[in-house]
Amino acid sequence: MTEIKFDFNNMLSENLGTSNGVEANEITEIAPIVQNAHAHLEKVLNDTNSRLRLSLEWIRLPYQDESEIKKIQKLGNEIAAKYDAVISLGIGGSYLGLKAAQDALVSPYYNDFAKARKNRPRIYFEGNNLDPDTLSVLLKNLSPKKTFVVVISKSGETSETKATLLSVENWLKKALGKKYGRQIFAITDPDGGSLRKRVESEQKGDPLSFRNLPLLKGVGGRFSEFNMGLLHLAIIGVNIKEVLAGAKDMGDRCAISDYAKNPAYMYAILHHILYTKKGKSLAIMMPFSETLKSTADWYVQLLAESLGKKYPRKVEVLNNGSEEWLRDKTKLVNVGRTPLPCRGTNDLHSIQQNNVEGENNKVVTFIRVDKFRNEVKVPGKGDILSGKSFSQLLRLAQEATEWALVRDSRPNCTIIMPEVSAYYWGALLFFFEIATAFEGELLNVNAFDQPGVEGYKNYMYYKLGKPGVPQDIAQEIKDNPLQKNPKLIL
Ligand code: PA5
Repeated sequence: MTEIKFDFNNMLSENLGTSNGVEANEITEIAPIVQNAHAHLEKVLNDTNSRLRLSLEWIRLPYQDESEIKKIQKLGNEIAAKYDAVISLGIGGSYLGLKAAQDALVSPYYNDFAKARKNRPRIYFEGNNLDPDTLSVLLKNLSPKKTFVVVISKSGETSETKATLLSVENWLKKALGKKYGRQIFAITDPDGGSLRKRVESEQKGDPLSFRNLPLLKGVGGRFSEFNMGLLHLAIIGVNIKEVLAGAKDMGDRCAISDYAKNPAYMYAILHHILYTKKGKSLAIMMPFSETLKSTADWYVQLLAESLGKKYPRKVEVLNNGSEEWLRDKTKLVNVGRTPLPCRGTNDLHSIQQNNVEGENNKVVTFIRVDKFRNEVKVPGKGDILSGKSFSQLLRLAQEATEWALVRDSRPNCTIIMPEVSAYYWGALLFFFEIATAFEGELLNVNAFDQPGVEGYKNYMYYKLGKPGVPQDIAQEIKDNPLQKNPKLIL
């Protein structure tokens, strides 16, 4: 079977010169660090206690129990057969992977045409913002009797998801009466959090209300598509087994210490050198496929939350040999490449000007698709485009973009996907997850927490009067209110 390939020709000094490309000796210089990083990652990934404590359990997701997968696939089919629409509530890691899967793996214009969606329900994503316009219009136009709601929140506390759930519940209740909870499905923490408590109390009254699936312990939001996204895959008719098989095969390829043969390690190493030694701090993710645009959005969260960190990691080994990762607050580092999602060819008429002639501080990752599900040939004879297929033109545009970047010594690389299928999409996500985890090791940060995201959440909770905001944070908010000088607002 053809595999996903990683082409890194255009990241090297041979093609770009030594100021902008990675030199062979720069790779050999960091080889000992790479070996240590591999050994460390392997150690924590193989230790159950560390995996659970440090949120590394995502590495096990491709190996989930087949009978559980079958049950989820069946449940998805049942929901799909019964309802005209599904509202999926969630944000961040509880949303981006689902949207990415939907755009990549089912037919384009899925919601618009019954045939394109094989008569499955239309899907609407909400709870990923607090914009009152979108939710109002949606609820005014959907029929509550024919709508199923899936709410995903690990904590159950995220304001966007919670506020939307309460609103959608109210809408269901008005139309359906007290059995409205039978049309709500919750995916949340197995033990704690307010959504789990809600599920438990609803189920005591009516076991068919707030049916639910647990999130696996030790899996953080942005690494959890192969867990919290499974019911969504089943509802839209994607074969979950194939997605997981792709992830598993990629996991096997990327488990080896020899970085010359490990595409995820090589991706991380080259980006790390370009970032730390050549000032390439922007990561442009540019699939040449409309269907992978949301996968680029998913990647933005993965990279930004995993590597964008204020403090380095301090590793502590506990008595049982497992690890605890702390933030070393004695050293301020403020590291992490900044991701930006783009798509070819659309953004060739926008950001590409800056990519080629703006500051030389970026690395572009292209995702090239070799075979599309459909083909269109430009008709007629009289034009240079006549007789050419769209996929041929798209491929040429991507090659031309590479050429334009190389000509101006701009580093870039290409991930070659044989096709956008469940198998290869699963492999692609896992490739990026492993590469990001490994880059976290090279950078010595905790790639699995997101203390920066908690900051805004805590500020909102404090202002809303929610109990439980940590004392020191509450004090900090009180002592340092936002200062606004009206003279500075024109
Ligand atoms: O990656 C993460 O953990 C975060 O982006 C979360 O997914 C996001 O904040 C939503 O949290 P929750 O699932 O608890 O509602």
